[in-house]
Amino acid sequence: MKYNFDQIIDRHNTGGAKWDAVEAVFGTKDVLPMWVADMDFAVAKPITEALRKRTEHEVYGYTQPLPSVTEAVVDRMQRKYNWKIEPEWIVYTPGVVPALFAAVRAFTKPGDGVVLQGPVYMPFWSAITSNGCCVADNELKLKKGRYEIDFKDLESKFCGDKPPKMMILCHPHNPVGRVWTEKELRRMGEIVMKNDALMVSDEIHCELLFKGYKHIPFASISKEFAQNSIVCMAPSKTFNLAGLSASTIIIPNKKTRDCFCTARMGFTTGTNAFGLVGLEAAYRYGDEWLEQLIDYVQGNLEFLMKYFEEKIPEVKVIKPEGTYLVWLDCRKLARLPKSPGDGVQGMSTKKLRDFFIKKAKVGLEDGTIFGPEGSGFQRMNIACPRATLKEALGRIERAVRARD
Ligand SMILES: Cc1ncc(COP(=O)(O)O)c(C=O)c1O
Repeated sequence: MKYNFDQIIDRHNTGGAKWDAVEAVFGTKDVLPMWVADMDFAVAKPITEALRKRTEHEVYGYTQPLPSVTEAVVDRMQRKYNWKIEPEWIVYTPGVVPALFAAVRAFTKPGDGVVLQGPVYMPFWSAITSNGCCVADNELKLKKGRYEIDFKDLESKFCGDKPPKMMILCHPHNPVGRVWTEKELRRMGEIVMKNDALMVSDEIHCELLFKGYKHIPFASISKEFAQNSIVCMAPSKTFNLAGLSASTIIIPNKKTRDCFCTARMGFTTGTNAFGLVGLEAAYRYGDEWLEQLIDYVQGNLEFLMKYFEEKIPEVKVIKPEGTYLVWLDCRKLARLPKSPGDGVQGMSTKKLRDFFIKKAKVGLEDGTIFGPEGSGFQRMNIACPRATLKEALGRIERAVRARD
């Protein structure tokens, strides 16, 4: 069937955070929300049908995954990535974020180092620090409009007398949009394994890739990689099911899996009756919708890139390879110096944020929430009807021109 992604769906008063939390997050009701990572699109019809059928049963007790749910996950890994996983490797959790917290809790002690690559999704930082660990930031480098890994720095992170116990990888990367290549994954994995650390690979965005890019699950690279990693996946970003709370944490090594399961006990066990139904329907019957969605989001991206280039050249778009999140380099707009202390300060971080909220009236994620290297950047969610995107870009353009 043909889906209509142009359809505007009023999400107010559904409890959906993106629209209903606007005033709490931005301090005003009149911003257009382009922040938190969910989509303003209706889900694939087979998902709605499966959920409707489940509600009609009318008993919603404690739930465990039926064998057909696990079969759907195993099949999808085989079909999408030629990755053969065993059913017992899968641990179901209500989200990837609780799994990241549980993994840090399971495999580190307070004071240990954990590597991440800033700027990165904010709970990576809090999963580390809230467990009393120290962030070892292998800062990504922006080179000619594309972020790259500083491998020399990554090696050096493991050189001290207390080398990190873990690395948390964002693959594809939120917010910079990189889809790591096999070569990059191998190089990172080799460094991590050589230093007896565990790789926790957050692959929640893995099915949202633009044309020409391919996702390789970290653990699928080799037996050794599989034995030294945890792969976090979910249908939540791909199929717009974040509110259903169902994720799959794939842990091939039994000892690692047991340790993870012990650490997460009591605070992040299981999923819910509807989450598992949504997950199975998405994985089995969601591909027709997904193909059309990716075409549509790709169209949004092309529209946005052209718009910024022609009408708001003060903002540089970091072209994403995956995800529906776009990282905007606003340093020229803010006239920020290249590095702190380097020349006259332009708009402060707060002023830049205020500019988008109060002048443009568009609700973006401020770059600094992804780490200090996000200063002067904003993240924009483009998983919305084209008309909404046009409205947001028009608002930004008018605000920028008004300050000329
Ligand atoms: C990289 C990454 N991991 C995890 C999440 C959220 O995971 P969950 O809602 O399953 O806890 C997001 C949401 O934006 C994300 O971008």
